[in-house]
Amino acid sequence: MGQLLYIEASPRKKRSTSIEVAHTFLEAYRQSHPNMTVETIDLWQKNIPEFNGDVIDSKYAIMHKQSHTEAQRKAWHAVEEIIHEFKQADCYLFSLPMWNFGIPYKLKQYIDVLVQPSYTFKYSPETGYQGLVVGKPVTVIYSRGGAYGSGTGSESLDLQKTYMETILKFIGFTDIHSIFIEPTMGPPEVKEQAMKKAKEEALKMAPQF
Ligand SMILES: Cc1cc2nc3c(=O)[nH]c(=O)nc-3n(C[C@H](O)[C@H](O)[C@H](O)COP(=O)(O)O)c2cc1C
Repeated sequence: MGQLLYIEASPRKKRSTSIEVAHTFLEAYRQSHPNMTVETIDLWQKNIPEFNGDVIDSKYAIMHKQSHTEAQRKAWHAVEEIIHEFKQADCYLFSLPMWNFGIPYKLKQYIDVLVQPSYTFKYSPETGYQGLVVGKPVTVIYSRGGAYGSGTGSESLDLQKTYMETILKFIGFTDIHSIFIEPTMGPPEVKEQAMKKAKEEALKMAPQF
């Protein structure tokens, strides 16, 4: 029995296009993978620790085996719990809207907590940076009001996919799949077409995932 971890980044819930396509994917996934469990992290409900100066001080004190307080131990433990929850999964699904050409701040906060040396990546002068989340597939569902795909002339504005792929590769992912919902703004039939195409891709990809 393995686990798919679904990480949901839109706060729009019933009105969200990225969540709707993710649910299509998950329904097909559950049918084709009856032995897998699906866990969901709703980033708008989750208590993601602040990653402020105190937590960073805690991190360095503990990682460098210096003296630290009970409060610092607890603060770093909260970060470790987020990392542990993420790393114990066998495969991953993210769904996210584009916000200001990038990703929603809740997802960025989650990533800033998750990406820690010796937990999700490591560095040595001999080998450089190495990701530590290896051998696991990930699918990312991207929704965006405009169109940023090949030939649109807006490719360079797509910091959503560029950032997600950069960070996923940095922490070790190599088997990365993408589904795009675009454009979602404009006439209703344009959005409907974008949703139809994305759902067809989700239905095709989920059984092979
Ligand atoms: C705060 C905010 C910022 C947005 N920024 C962009 C943007 O930079 N580019 C874009 O194409 N769409 C942008 N949009 C539109 C969303 O990406 C689009 O509506 C998307 O389909 C929302 O996905 P969802 O329905 O899953 O939340 C923005 C929407 C919001 C709420």
